Amino acid sequence: MTTTLTPPTTGHLDDDAAGQAHFDQLIADDNRVEPTDWMPAAYRKTLVRQVSQHAHSEIIGMQPEANWITRAPSLKRKAILMAKVQDEAGHGLYLYSAAETLGTPRDELVDQLLSGKAKYSSIFNYPARTWADVGAIGWLVDGAAIANQVPLCRASYGPYGRSMVRICKEESFHQRQGWEILYELARGTAEQKQMAQEAINRFYGPALQMFGPPDDESPNSQQSMAWNIKRFSNDELRQRFVDMIVPQVEALGLSFEDPDLKWNEERGHYDFGELDWSEFKAVVRGNGPCNEQRLNHRRAAHDEGAWVREAAAAYARRQADQPVVDSALIA
Ligand code: 3HC
Repeated sequence: MTTTLTPPTTGHLDDDAAGQAHFDQLIADDNRVEPTDWMPAAYRKTLVRQVSQHAHSEIIGMQPEANWITRAPSLKRKAILMAKVQDEAGHGLYLYSAAETLGTPRDELVDQLLSGKAKYSSIFNYPARTWADVGAIGWLVDGAAIANQVPLCRASYGPYGRSMVRICKEESFHQRQGWEILYELARGTAEQKQMAQEAINRFYGPALQMFGPPDDESPNSQQSMAWNIKRFSNDELRQRFVDMIVPQVEALGLSFEDPDLKWNEERGHYDFGELDWSEFKAVVRGNGPCNEQRLNHRRAAHDEGAWVREAAAAYARRQADQPVVDSALIA
C-alpha cells in the first residue's frame, strides 16, 4: 500500500506569498526543497513529469538487456547482466518513490506509462540485436545516463537529488561492465571486433539524443535550470559526453561513424555531426522501432503482477485493522 504525502495546501494568499518567498530563498541559497516545503504548482508539476519519466525509462530500459540474459556467452556474463537488470528495476522503484513524495500516487504514474501518455527515454526504443549491443548499451547508454545524472545529484528537490547518489554509483558498474564486453570483443576475432563496431555505430547517435533536444528546442530547460533541477543544458551535457567517449573509443581500437567528429582546438571540444532530430521526434511521439513491443511487454508484466499488488494491499489492510498491542503487555 503506497502512502503518499499530502502536499501542503494553503489556499490562503498570504500563506502562498510567504510560501513563495520561502521557496525563492531556498532556490537562491541553492538549498534543498523537501516534500513538506511549500512549492509552486509548476515546480511540482515539472518534477512529477521528469522524475516519473525517469522512472519509466529505468523500468522499460530493463527490456533490451533482459532479452540477453538467457543468451549471455558465459555464466560470468549472465550473472553480471542479471545484476545490472535488477539494479535498473531498483532505480525505477526508487524514482517512483521520489515522485510519490510530490503527491501523485504510483499507480497513477504507472497508468500514464501503460496508456502511452507518459514518455520514457528514446534510447530504449532501439533493439539489442547482438551481444555487442549489450556492451554498447552499458558503455554508451549508461555512460550517457551517468553524465546526465551526476549533476542531478544536486537537483534542488531533495528526494530526487538524493536518489541520484546511489543510482549513479550503480550506473558506474553498469558502464564498466559494458566497456569490458566491448574491450573483449574488440580484441577477439575479426568477426567479434566487427560486431562491436556495428553495435557502437547503431547506438552512438541515439545515445547522444538521450540528453534531449537541442537547447533552442527544449521548452523545459530554462525553467528547470532556474529552479536548480537541471544544472547544465542538454547541449552542454551532450558535448561533455562526446568529449569523454572519443578517447575511450580510441582506447577500444574502434571508432565512431561520424565524419564531422574531430577535435576543435579553438573550442577545446570535439566537433561532431548533426544528429537525426526528425527520427528523434518520431521516436518521442511513440513511433520508435520497439515502442509497441516495449509497452505491450510492460502491460503484460503489469497484468501478471496484479496478484502481488492485491496480496500486498490485503496484507496492509489487515495489518492496519490489527489492534495495536503494547509490547510491554506481552513481556
Ligand atoms: N527521450 C524521450 N523524451 C525526451 C528525451 C528523450 N531522450 N529528451 C527529451 N524528451 C522529452 C522531454 O520529456 C520533454 O517532453 P515532456 O515535456 O512531455 O516531458 C520534451 O522532450 C522536451 O525536452 P526538454 O529538454 O524540454 O525536457 P527536459 O528539460 O525534461 O530534459 C531530459 C529532458 C534531459 C531527458 C530530462 O528530463 C532529464 O534529465 N531526465 C532525467 C534523466 C532521464 O530521464 N534519463 C533517461 C534515461 S534513464 C537510463 O538511462 C537508465 C540507465 O540505467 C540505463
